[in-house]
Amino acid sequence: MPLLCLTSPKGGVGKTSLAAGLAYALQRAGRQVLVLDCDPQNAVRLHLGLPIADSAGFFVRLQDRPDWRAGIRQTPAGIALLPYGETDMRGALATAAQLERDPELLAAPLRAMLADPSLIIVADTPPGASGALSVLAPLAGVVLAVLLADAASTALIPDIESGRFLGRGTLGSLLGPKLLVVLNQVDRHSRLSIAAAEGVAAHLGPRLAGAVCRDEQVAEALACQKPIGLHAPSSTAARDVADIAATVLREMPPPSVAAPAPAPLSSPLFPWVRS
Ligand SMILES: Nc1ncnc2c1ncn2[C@@H]1O[C@H](COP(=O)(O)OP(=O)(O)OP(=O)(O)O)[C@@H](O)[C@H]1O
Ligand SMILES: [Mg+2]
Repeated sequence: MPLLCLTSPKGGVGKTSLAAGLAYALQRAGRQVLVLDCDPQNAVRLHLGLPIADSAGFFVRLQDRPDWRAGIRQTPAGIALLPYGETDMRGALATAAQLERDPELLAAPLRAMLADPSLIIVADTPPGASGALSVLAPLAGVVLAVLLADAASTALIPDIESGRFLGRGTLGSLLGPKLLVVLNQVDRHSRLSIAAAEGVAAHLGPRLAGAVCRDEQVAEALACQKPIGLHAPSSTAARDVADIAATVLREMPPPSVAAPAPAPLSSPLFPWVRS
């Protein structure tokens, strides 16, 4: 399905910067993109040029079952966005609890978005486990786990490989095939960073979707409220992000291919349940 979900067991690794950068790169590659911000930090809007005082949002109003089409914002960066919306801790916890009780609050509009085959949805999520991630991951075509090239991140590789971080046991292994890793902030002048990146690349093989160098232009891009590809198109980081966007497009199942219907069961699984 044309849903790219940015996630990580760790915070502060570059999920939101990469969500904005990949959305821009995918749009430059000719795809129509809608970014869905599922993180109460409500930060994607800043990367795409909306004013900091702009408090409107979609996710924050999920319990009202808002019309997602009406909530779409055309950002100055030229990318359509459903912002999370402004909230405080109490509001974020209330929204998370409502989503936990009724995952359809998010799953239903998401399925409607995904029914449009011309659209790629890029979703940014909060660090670690979240209700949003548990709804998004099963519907995603690609789940991109962002890590840094350091010891703390490489220690999380077994959790990512086993699927534990996406859900215990079999759910994680079911989602495993669409889970790719991106290493961010790889510092070519740091022995440790290069050693970590080489180790992860050798270990993950094709499940490493790519790496993004540490580049001050990424931080500057946010200060200028632009995705990296718009702020500094010829920077190394912008080229790294464009390469990852190309990998995502290759890995994303084609939108026209409908999921195969499950084979009919030879005998009823639950004979005591009558339809
Ligand atoms: N490749 C990079 N080079 C240099 N700085 C980077 C790079 N990627 C991200 N940063 C910087 O790292 C910081 C964290 O980035 P970002 O907010 O995107 O991370 P995050 O994973 O979304 O964080 P959170 O877990 O809080 O949502 C920001 O200051 C950003 O500018
Ligand atoms: Mg973030």
